[in-house]
Amino acid sequence: MIDSFGRRITYVRMSVTDRCDLRCRYCMSERMTFMPRRDLLDFEEIVALTDVLIARGVRRIRLTGGEPLVRRNVMYLIEQLGSRIGDGFDEVTLTTNGTQLAANAEQLFAAGVRRINVSLDSLDPQRFAHITRRGKLDQVLNGIETAASAGLAVKINMMALAGVNDDEFHTMLAWCGARGFDLTLIETMPLGEVEDHRPERYLSLQDVLAELRQRWMLTPSLHRSGGPARYYDVGEGGIRLGLITPMSQNFCDGCNRIRIAATGTVYGCLGHEQKVELREILRQGGPAAVDAALDRLLAGKPQRHSFDLAQPATARHMSVTGG
Ligand code: 5AD
Ligand code: SF4
Repeated sequence: MIDSFGRRITYVRMSVTDRCDLRCRYCMSERMTFMPRRDLLDFEEIVALTDVLIARGVRRIRLTGGEPLVRRNVMYLIEQLGSRIGDGFDEVTLTTNGTQLAANAEQLFAAGVRRINVSLDSLDPQRFAHITRRGKLDQVLNGIETAASAGLAVKINMMALAGVNDDEFHTMLAWCGARGFDLTLIETMPLGEVEDHRPERYLSLQDVLAELRQRWMLTPSLHRSGGPARYYDVGEGGIRLGLITPMSQNFCDGCNRIRIAATGTVYGCLGHEQKVELREILRQGGPAAVDAALDRLLAGKPQRHSFDLAQPATARHMSVTGG
């Protein structure tokens, strides 16, 4: 799959539910309305779609949400996708908030998952509870520990939030270093309405990097994880620091992905409305019709996002297309 700007699409982010057991302030509104369950693709449809994507050169799929592990029986789906690994299809990964990890880590590994991203914005219990509006830090830390013991490589995703966790980057880097976890910092993006005032929360990672460099030996690394992060090797510790800078340094030229919502709507870009609806096509059209719809998506995939923090770029929250 190649888009009209010559970018090869080899990576798919697939949201299996827009629901989440947390309500992170930068991500969701306190009173989120979720999509009706009857509108979701069922697992057979997701697997059929995945087989088309693999046939078209997709090498990696990341399951996201909302929180992917809150979708009922999601392990069945992960096992099905895991069984496709090999022969051109490399990886099934997961982005999770960690709340359900303790109970799922071993099965994830058994299904073929080898690395996961866990969102963790603070190591302070009260602060964590505040940011997530309901999360228990202990539960997540326990989940992370279980995942690491089960053999999963853990990468921590931390949002950089001015006035919220901007005094914790050093602590988080040290905590990750002690455990062998890579750490990726992320700039906040204007996706969907939330109560938080995003411009007030925004922190440029260029500034954070300068501050971190006063205490850490950070060497630019050639490592790429297949996403938009730029990496630095951290001291001698063997871990990497990644920076995802949608606001301060655009990375869309290297975009390799499309995003599928749990309803089967496929989006060319996180920050645009451009989409194709695959659900009815999957139900009635068969693989050739899915191919044609994907071609329409690729032809119209936007060149880049252009975010203005003062207003949402789309009404869609990150949880619909891969938060
Ligand atoms: N901007 C940037 N990142 C976001 N995430 C959720 N909402 C937003 C947003 N508005 C992050 C989560 C998670 C990752 C998948 O996306 O923290 O780590
Ligand atoms: Fe849930 Fe992740 Fe959004 Fe937090 S950021 S509310 S954990 S989907």
